[in-house]
Amino acid sequence: MGNFIFHGCDTTELAREFGTPLYVVSEDEITDRIRTVKSCFDEKYERCRTHFASKAFLTRDMLRILMDEGLGLDVVSGGELYLARRMNFPVERIAFHGNSKTVREISEGLEYGVGKFVCDSLGEISLIDEMARAHDVRANILIRVNPGVEGNTHRHMLTSGGRTKFGLSPEAVKNAMPACMKMANVSISGFHFHVGSQLMDASAHLAAVDVLLELIREARSEVGFEAWILDMGGGFGVPYTASDRPIPIEGFIGAMVKRAEEFCALNGIKRPDLIIEPGRYIVGPSGITLYTVCSVKEVPGVTLYAGVDGGYPDNPRPALYEAVYDAVVANKYGEPADRKVTIAGKCCESGDIVIRDIALPPVERGDVIAVLCTGAYNYSMANNYNKTPIPAIVAIKDGCPRISVRRQTYAELYACDPPPDSKAPSVQAV
Ligand code: LLP
Repeated sequence: MGNFIFHGCDTTELAREFGTPLYVVSEDEITDRIRTVKSCFDEKYERCRTHFASKAFLTRDMLRILMDEGLGLDVVSGGELYLARRMNFPVERIAFHGNSKTVREISEGLEYGVGKFVCDSLGEISLIDEMARAHDVRANILIRVNPGVEGNTHRHMLTSGGRTKFGLSPEAVKNAMPACMKMANVSISGFHFHVGSQLMDASAHLAAVDVLLELIREARSEVGFEAWILDMGGGFGVPYTASDRPIPIEGFIGAMVKRAEEFCALNGIKRPDLIIEPGRYIVGPSGITLYTVCSVKEVPGVTLYAGVDGGYPDNPRPALYEAVYDAVVANKYGEPADRKVTIAGKCCESGDIVIRDIALPPVERGDVIAVLCTGAYNYSMANNYNKTPIPAIVAIKDGCPRISVRRQTYAELYACDPPPDSKAPSVQAV
């Protein structure tokens, strides 16, 4: 019985000192997880490099950790690239993804000199070629391939298969290669795939690797294209609740590398350099969210609602993906969980339920609830619905908490609206 301790910090004290809702991340856990990935990929095999998918969690502190640990970075927007630039992230280690890059984003990527553009269509490749000519540079390109396999995950987290907007089929890639190879200001370095997110085993990844290796073989023999990079995406699942049982990360990574090495040896091809781009695996379990219970309401025969001071704005995942989380009452840690409780978010939105029907100790107003495994795609997908300010992030290192990102203020919610009589500029400068 006592308070819930997260990486050496009493979470009820964090709630009192920094306020709620509050994101809490352990920098030690993030670093450990990065090192685990590196030890079974970058350091274990030659010519293998890990990129972090910044869409999962991007702050200045996160960029600093990634630079310290020597990882690469995937960005998917001008905004993500901007943060990386501001922190002087090594440009050659940045890959610029996105299925619908704007002209402005491409030009920012070219000006900064990103290591690679990951392209989603032939039109995008010719646009980059044209724009690179104007910048008098040559851009490195990976072509995103839709391997056609469907992993077992929520349909909104699938990024391969018949209904996805991402990538080109292997056939379309082969048809496009001769034209791409003639373009003077782009250099096609290889292929990319990402099957989907929050996958529990390696079957979809391995099926995709097989498709891509076959494409590499055929592109070589049919159009004389030598792929020297294969980017195998991310998607490695984490346990949100006790019923999620993902295979260990080395099970995904080792199996994919082995498959590539065997195929290449058999076909007399030099194994391409390999890249992986995990997001969730690195940050998901490294973070939690603290809330204060504001209201408790029993609906007889249905559930006990515990309304908290956050919800959809800091975590839209339950509403978007029916995501299920685990939680504890931080100030009643270890007490018998003998009540069925629904943790309700505070927004005017029926779908704003943080966790439905979870067993907790009796919950009262003022209790602190810690929702676990919220480090990935929570802060990065946070929004201002109901004009809710985005929570602060407290980072813990060696048991010491400090503000990593401060809480948004009400004044900032107001700041973008020009006063009615002002001559507001029509284009916003960054
Ligand atoms: N690489 C590419 C090209 C991706 O599209 C993604 C995720 C990743 C890497 C990283 O995947 P991870 O290792 O984190 O699974 N908002 C959703 C997840 C969308 C992920 C989209 N792409 C969520 O909250 O679950």
